[in-house]
Amino acid sequence: WERPDGRPFRQRLLVVANRLPVSAVRRGEESWSLEISGGGLVTALLGVKEFEARWIGWAGVNVPDEAGQRALTKALAEKRCIPVFLDEDIVHQYYNGYCNNILWPLFHYLGLPQEDRLATTRSFQSQFAAYMKANKMFADVVNQHYEEGDVVWCHDYHLMFLPKCLKDHNSKMKVGWFLHTPFPSSEIHRTLPSRKELLHAVLAADLVGFHTYDYARHFVSACTRILGLEGTPEGVEDQGRLTRVAAFPIGIDSDRFIRALEVPQVQDHIKELKDRFAGRKVMLGVDRLDMIKGIPQKILAFEKFLEENPNWRDKVVLLQIAVPTRTDVPEYQKLTSQVHEIVGRINGRFGTLTAVPIHHLDRSLDFHALCALYAVTDVALVTSLRDGMNLVSYEFVACQDAKKGVLILSEFAGAAQSLGAGAILVNPWNITEVASSIGQALNMSAEEREKRHRHNFMHVTTHTAQEWAETFVSELNDTVVEAQLRIRQ
Ligand code: ADP
Ligand code: G6P
Repeated sequence: WERPDGRPFRQRLLVVANRLPVSAVRRGEESWSLEISGGGLVTALLGVKEFEARWIGWAGVNVPDEAGQRALTKALAEKRCIPVFLDEDIVHQYYNGYCNNILWPLFHYLGLPQEDRLATTRSFQSQFAAYMKANKMFADVVNQHYEEGDVVWCHDYHLMFLPKCLKDHNSKMKVGWFLHTPFPSSEIHRTLPSRKELLHAVLAADLVGFHTYDYARHFVSACTRILGLEGTPEGVEDQGRLTRVAAFPIGIDSDRFIRALEVPQVQDHIKELKDRFAGRKVMLGVDRLDMIKGIPQKILAFEKFLEENPNWRDKVVLLQIAVPTRTDVPEYQKLTSQVHEIVGRINGRFGTLTAVPIHHLDRSLDFHALCALYAVTDVALVTSLRDGMNLVSYEFVACQDAKKGVLILSEFAGAAQSLGAGAILVNPWNITEVASSIGQALNMSAEEREKRHRHNFMHVTTHTAQEWAETFVSELNDTVVEAQLRIRQ
């Protein structure tokens, strides 16, 4: 969070997101260690260097005692992070429940939970109450740390209520809200029992941002069709007040990846991997172990490819690195067993005494190991059923300037709109199509790989996380100035 060149920061920025960029692990009564958190939101925001940013969020751990809270607050302050302490019940109802069992699947077109409708409805109400309570707790912490002139940037589906809480307290606060997931078609959003409250709450922000133009359009349609408000080219108007709505496609800190490839430790690791998989093409999947990532579909497509192409069986390997996530939510537990079962079956079917076709790891890799893996990969497979953007595809491209490997990318990831011209786009539900794309990627000529890679590398290195944040924040500043001028006229 510090500018390496010593120049002054542009502006103070309060970033508010459910998850802090570091997660805390308790080592003793008052001693904590901090580990980098996972996910695209953290990856992108760590690339933002132009602002004097403070990050407000949950440290991913329950800290019931005051001494522990004091010690953790102090440890986090060194990282410019400010904790919001959520107790176990709130985490269960707000984070596991409303956020990850209701909003996350709904926004990714997987629908609302359906097991027992009545139970769902009852727990829905208490989970929504917990969601609002948690959002108010985040707002309290923002209010304690806010200074006049600060920009407050709220992130993601966990905090849709936050803009309203903040504006109710201080209507002059500059508030932006950005969604890191898709915003679904209004026909999907309207199934949500709290559909209106959430839309109204988000509209309290001055600027509302999405990864793609389609998500922004869906949001405006939801506001016009569900709330009966007026959609304009700039956003949504409610009784003369405009909330600006626009697309701000996110990026990564591409230089960080490119520089990492020069680090001796990464070079050594690249060499080891090349030796280990000599004579075989390397295919790679890197995902949180989440149902939206289409991991079972990806592995089944790889099985189909092996089935139909016996000559490739001992010449290709799929490395699937899937970090467990949200493990208290039952749907995620089911997914883990499902993936293990499919991988076991395929390795049993096509493995030999000396090699297996799929290496599946249930864990996170450190940054350098990940860069080395991206660099030795021949074909990356991103088969999300829906995905806000998908930064793994960007990271792969950033690390491929030497090898010029092929990206197979789901057309349902936001990244398909930016990397579509260089990638092979697939419908991940169509296993046969993905299997044949694997063949196309493995057999692609060097010239075509070079051409496709050039396109994507250019995009990834010019549309960075830094540029994304600067554009959003300057648009937020302008929006507030324009609104003030409109009021004066
Ligand atoms: P999401 O935000 O849904 O997790 P993204 O692809 O946008 O999806 O971002 C995922 C981020 O998490 C990337 O920065 C990626 O490098 C990181 N990541 C995902 N899986 C792993 C893993 N197994 N090991 C290390 N990092 C991972
Ligand atoms: C996605 C979400 C983020 C979230 C991340 C990791 O990227 O958009 O808001 O932080 O997944 O998920 P988790 O539940 O572990 O925070």
